[in-house]
Amino acid sequence: MIRTSHLLPLLACLIAATPASAQQPNRALILECMACHGDDGIAKDKDVPHLAGQNYDYLLKQMRDFQKGRRPHKEMRVMSRLMDDAEMQEIADFYARLPR
Ligand code: HEC
Repeated sequence: MIRTSHLLPLLACLIAATPASAQQPNRALILECMACHGDDGIAKDKDVPHLAGQNYDYLLKQMRDFQKGRRPHKEMRVMSRLMDDAEMQEIADFYARLPR
């Protein structure tokens, strides 16, 4: 007979192995991004960059740089401060996966 207690470590492994991509970025936050960067990561305004299909590492670095003030920009400085690092990683992953 298989006891449930024997299955628990296995379950814990499966949950831990679930890739970060399975997580959805914070909805309320991403809606704000979409207002400027477009619903599909393709910006309508020519002054706003497209984020769809951009490299994960690049996107994450830009958000960290805005937050730290290494890349100066008024709106993005404000927006970047609404995110913690885990949220920036989720959002970078979300945009990197969108088709260009
Ligand atoms: C008020 C409009 C606005 C909002 C809202 C906004 N952005 Fe931006 N974002 C911009 C503009 C404009 C730039 C270009 C900055 C520059 O000229 O350096 C930019 C740049 C970026 C970049 C760098 C892109 C590149 O190609 O270098 C990233 C990443 C980014 N935004 C992510 C986000 C995320 C994530 C959110 C939501 C939390 C967000 N933005 C919300 C206007 C906005």
